[in-house]
Amino acid sequence: MTNILLVTSSPRGPEGLSTRFATEIAEGLKAVLGATLSTRDLAANPPPHIGQAYIQGRGLAAKARTPEQDAAVGFAQALVDEVTAADVIVLGSGMINFGLPSQLKAWFDHITWPGVTFGYDEAGRPKGLLSGKKVYLVTAAGGVFSEGDWAPFDFQTTYLRHLLGFIGLTDVEIVRVEGTVFGPEAAKAAIAAAEAKVRAVLEQAA
Ligand SMILES: Cc1cc2nc3c(=O)[nH]c(=O)nc-3n(C[C@H](O)[C@H](O)[C@H](O)COP(=O)(O)O)c2cc1C
Repeated sequence: MTNILLVTSSPRGPEGLSTRFATEIAEGLKAVLGATLSTRDLAANPPPHIGQAYIQGRGLAAKARTPEQDAAVGFAQALVDEVTAADVIVLGSGMINFGLPSQLKAWFDHITWPGVTFGYDEAGRPKGLLSGKKVYLVTAAGGVFSEGDWAPFDFQTTYLRHLLGFIGLTDVEIVRVEGTVFGPEAAKAAIAAAEAKVRAVLEQAA
């Protein structure tokens, strides 16, 4: 059976557009594929920032770790296990100060783990260790970043795509919800465009 993992991170609660459309995709795929769905709400339950206990602990054998290191590594391992168990990952991210929400950054800081989700090949090039997973990435932003003057400042979608690729998640379909700050009409059009993209994604998956 196909396993879907829905990861949401908008700090805007029920108003979060990335959460809304990522959830629609995940629930739609669940129905279409007859899949299981697990959720990880990083805004409701933010991961801690990574610290010394995790960074030192992950380089040690389990029995050499202090209880604090063991807990920190165990937390990261649980996040990695969720990702590893998923065939499909639906990720929601809403732009905060031109980047991704810090909750989502903290999640990536836990799962981007040398020897576990990435390594290096014989030539010393980085190599993602996850494979065979499809990712749907929903990125919301007040401005427009897919084209035009602000495109060079899209440190959200470009960074997320890079991070995903770095750990081996290269099959990424992006749904942008953008241009919602230019008044109610623009917001309506942006949401209608995202709804159409979600419908197309689900039709393609059916
Ligand atoms: C604290 C904060 C910072 C934001 N920073 C930006 C920004 O740098 N650029 C931008 O285009 N929109 C910015 N916005 C608007 C959000 O990107 C927009 O509301 C988007 O829909 C947020 O995603 P969400 O709906 O999933 O929460 C910001 C919003 C908040 C609340």
